[in-house]
Amino acid sequence: MRAQVGIVGAGPAGLALSHLLARRGIDSIVVEIRSQAHCEARQRAGVLEAGSVEVLRAAGVSQRLDREGLEHGGIYLQFAGERHHIDFRDLTGGRTVTVYAQTEVVKDLIAARLDAGQPIEFDVTDTEVRALDTTRPVLRYTSAGGERREVVCDAIAGCDGFHGICRPAIPASLCTVHECSYPYAWLGILADVPPSTDELIYCHHPGGFALHSMRTLQISRLYLQVTQDEDIAAWSDERIWDELQRRFALPGWELKEGPVLDKSITGMRSFVSAPMRYGRLFLAGDAAHIVPPTGAKGLNLALADVAVLARALAALIRDGREDLADGYSGTCLNRVWRATHFSWWMTTMLHATPGAGPMEAQLQLSQLRYTTSSRAAATALAENYVGYPPLHP
Ligand code: FAD
Ligand code: DHB
Repeated sequence: MRAQVGIVGAGPAGLALSHLLARRGIDSIVVEIRSQAHCEARQRAGVLEAGSVEVLRAAGVSQRLDREGLEHGGIYLQFAGERHHIDFRDLTGGRTVTVYAQTEVVKDLIAARLDAGQPIEFDVTDTEVRALDTTRPVLRYTSAGGERREVVCDAIAGCDGFHGICRPAIPASLCTVHECSYPYAWLGILADVPPSTDELIYCHHPGGFALHSMRTLQISRLYLQVTQDEDIAAWSDERIWDELQRRFALPGWELKEGPVLDKSITGMRSFVSAPMRYGRLFLAGDAAHIVPPTGAKGLNLALADVAVLARALAALIRDGREDLADGYSGTCLNRVWRATHFSWWMTTMLHATPGAGPMEAQLQLSQLRYTTSSRAAATALAENYVGYPPLHP
């Protein structure tokens, strides 16, 4: 078989890339180890930078997002019994973010590709990428029906997430990895109750961080900092709501409770593997980098990568120009490192560090007071949160 681009992984990165390439007249094949239902149901991110919305518009899949996405012009930071608003519009010259769930982004991307008659190979096994240092790299996989297939490509996009096979296909001697982990995790719930807030609340509390987010005006998404090795079975719905009530408590404000629809625990790490290219293999999204979720950056970085990659691959394959492909890794890593620092900063400012003494607690409070009282400090948070550097796909 033949395809101009072989895309490994039907997450937001791989799916968005397939559309951006199609708009440039480049055909691709997408292979995915999980089922369509699994890809569409995975509860993950919920905040899109304006640049990410632009990428989805450029991919031609923004009709529902434009209708149903909730525009947010700021966030609240809560600590020491106070809640402060950070006003993105005011601080960044009118920039905003959009609340629209990753599940919906993925559903929209899959539906648009299938409607256009372009298949996605779900439920494949034994994905392999070979001949990466040639101009005819090869993608092999076993289809859901059990048939072994080989696709000869001009380029392969490794969009297969942190546990995929593409990053390990790069010789280890050519990769530099930077990583750190954090001594806590997030317990996330989806709840059938209207949000108790108009904008997201990031809450620092001595008992641990909490976040009040939302999916729609009917469905809330909430997170609690828990220990790294937490057993989800130890968290009944009642215990989760009690803990959320304790951390978010503020006189005159009420946290509304409702049935828990989904419950899961996510570990936290920072990870960057460079370069993001080896020969004709290009990594994008979580395959190359992971951030802790506190800055809401993971999904946005994945979409920013593929916006750069689509342009580079079109120049390479259609016009025989190598310069954008050569610049791909450096261009992306500039944004990746900014988001990596921002996510680390938000994470360490807002979480309770196990075993930390009163000195660290005071430093965190001082940083929170500074961020909410100085226009310069608030602007630094705001311009990173809405996306820096601004992306114009
Ligand atoms: P993924 O979404 O991971 O997609 C990769 C795809 O590749 C998957 O569908 C996978 O099944 C497939 N794949 C893997 N191996 C193979 C193979 N060998 N062959 C074929 N296909 C393969 N970010 C936030 O901003 N906020 C959050 O709250 C948040 N929560 C998260 C919770 C969890 C549990 C996780 C894992 C991530 C979370 N993130 C969050 C991060 C964000 O969801 C990711 O950054 C985003 O999904 C990255 O998109 P991607 O397409 O690069 O990777
Ligand atoms: C969500 C997740 C985040 O990590 C974040 O910082 C904001 C919102 C969410 O799932 O809605």
